[in-house]
Amino acid sequence: MNPNERRILESLTEKAQSAEAIAQKAGVSSNTAYSAFATLEVAGYAKLDKAERVIARLTPEGLAYLKQGTPERRLIIVLKQPMSPEAAAENAGLPNEQRLIAIQWAKRNNWVKMATTAGKTVLELVSDAESPLEAAIKAIGTGEADAEKMDKEAVRLLRSRNLTQLFAKKEAAAAITPAGKTALMQAEETAALTPELLRTGAWKTTKFRPYDVGASTTHALPGKKHVLQMLADEVRTILIQMGFKEMNGPMVESAFWNFDMMFFPQNHPNRDMMDTFYLSKPRETGLPDSKLVERVKAVHESGWTTGSKGLGYSWSETEAARAILRPHTTPASYRYMAHMALLGKGVEKPGKYFMVNRVFRNESIDRTHLPEFQQIEGFVIDKDLNFRHLMGQIAEFYKHLGITKLRFKPVFNPYTEPSAEIFGFHPSLNRWIEIGNSGMFRPETLKPLDIGENVIAWGLALERAAMILFDIDDIRDVMGNECKLEWLREFPSAPAILR
Ligand code: PHE
Repeated sequence: MNPNERRILESLTEKAQSAEAIAQKAGVSSNTAYSAFATLEVAGYAKLDKAERVIARLTPEGLAYLKQGTPERRLIIVLKQPMSPEAAAENAGLPNEQRLIAIQWAKRNNWVKMATTAGKTVLELVSDAESPLEAAIKAIGTGEADAEKMDKEAVRLLRSRNLTQLFAKKEAAAAITPAGKTALMQAEETAALTPELLRTGAWKTTKFRPYDVGASTTHALPGKKHVLQMLADEVRTILIQMGFKEMNGPMVESAFWNFDMMFFPQNHPNRDMMDTFYLSKPRETGLPDSKLVERVKAVHESGWTTGSKGLGYSWSETEAARAILRPHTTPASYRYMAHMALLGKGVEKPGKYFMVNRVFRNESIDRTHLPEFQQIEGFVIDKDLNFRHLMGQIAEFYKHLGITKLRFKPVFNPYTEPSAEIFGFHPSLNRWIEIGNSGMFRPETLKPLDIGENVIAWGLALERAAMILFDIDDIRDVMGNECKLEWLREFPSAPAILR
C-alpha cells in the first residue's frame, strides 16, 4: 500500500462511500480515490459497489433560470396588484419569446387567474408556492443530481423546456472488508519490545511487527569460524558420509612414528626432505612396545621377514626417540594401526580412517607455503585394494568438495609404493597446484604391525583445496600475521560452495 492508498483505506467504513466523498475525507483528488479503490479491491481490502447512474445537469438556459428565476416566477413577482399580461411581462423585463411561456406556466401552476376589469383582461395573483420545476432546478443547482431519484414529472418538464441534459456516469462506492481492517491493524503493530512493554505487561496484548529478513541492516562483524575451519568441518562431514572414522594423534611426535616406522632411513636426506622441526624441550620422547621397536630395527637393518633387503645400516634407538613437531599426519595412521594391533583386535577390516589436523614444516614462506598447515590424512585397509581404488577414493572425496580437475603424478615416498602426487587446477592462477600426496603402504611398514592386507593412503593439504575453492591466490592472505583481515571478515559464514 502506498501512503495515499493507506489514507483512503483509513477513510473507508463498513458502509459504502463514493469515491468523491472519500476523496474529500482523505484529502486527495477523486481520480486518486478511484484508482486507489481499484488497488484496494484487488488486494481484498475494499468491497466496491460499481454503478452507472443517470445524472441531470442544467443547460445554460436552466442555469440562467436558476440565477434569475423562471420566467413565470419573474412574472408573478411584479403582480402586486392585478394588471394586464402585457404590462406584467413588461414590468418583469421578460424578453418577447418568454412572455407567452411565462403566462402559460403561471396559469398552469395556479399562481394566477384571468379576470376582467373594465372590459380588460388582467392577471391576478393567487399563489406563489414553489413549483415542482423550480424545486428540481434548485436540486440540480450548478452541479448535478441523480435523475433517477428526482420527481419523474419534473425531469420530464425540465427536458421538454430544454432546461436540463441527462448524462450516464460511472460511479464507485467502497466499503472496508475484514481483510482491510486487518491490514490497517498490522500497520499499527509495534516494532520493538521495550523494557516498558515488559514491565507493564503490555507485551501480552501488543501486536509485534514480523521481522523483514530481507531488509538491509547495519554492517555487523560477529565472531565466526575461520574460513579454513569451515572447510575442515566440511571435509569431516564428507569423509564421515563416505564411511570414514576419525582418528587422532599428537602434534609433538617421535622420530620413530614419524620416520622409522615409515621406513625412512636414519641420517638420510629423506628426513630433511620433510623440513622437520626438531625439538630441544623435550629432546626425546619414549619409544613404543619393545617388540615393535625390535621389528622396525630389523626391517631397517636387514628387511626382517618382509621380503625386503632392508637398508643395510646400524639402526639407532636414540635417533628414533628424538622429539619433533610432526611434519605430516601419517604417523597417526601408523599409531592407529599399531594401537589396534597391540590391543589384539587388529585394525577393523575393511576399515576407513581419517583425520584433519595441523602439521609443521620449516619451509620458506611463499604464496603456497606456510610453516603451519593442515593435512587431511586418510587410509583404507582391505584385502584386494589396488592403486585404482586409491585414485577413486581421492577423486570421490574431491568431487564432494567441488574439485573435479585432478591429475596424479608418480612420486617417491619411502613408505609407499606405488605413490602419486595429486594436482588440482587453480582457475585464476591458471595452473595445476599440488594438493596432496598418496600411495599404497609398503610391506616394510605394515608387516611389523602384522598387517597383511593392502592399505591405500593419502595426505591432502586443506589450504590448497581452500585456494582452489575460494579462489585464493596467496595463502598468506588467509593465515598468519600477514592475513587480510578485511577479506576474512567479509567471507560469508556459510559460503554457497560449502552448502
Ligand atoms: N605424508 C605425505 C605428505 O605429507 C602424504 C601421504 C600420506 C602420502 C599417506 C602417502 C600416503 O605429503
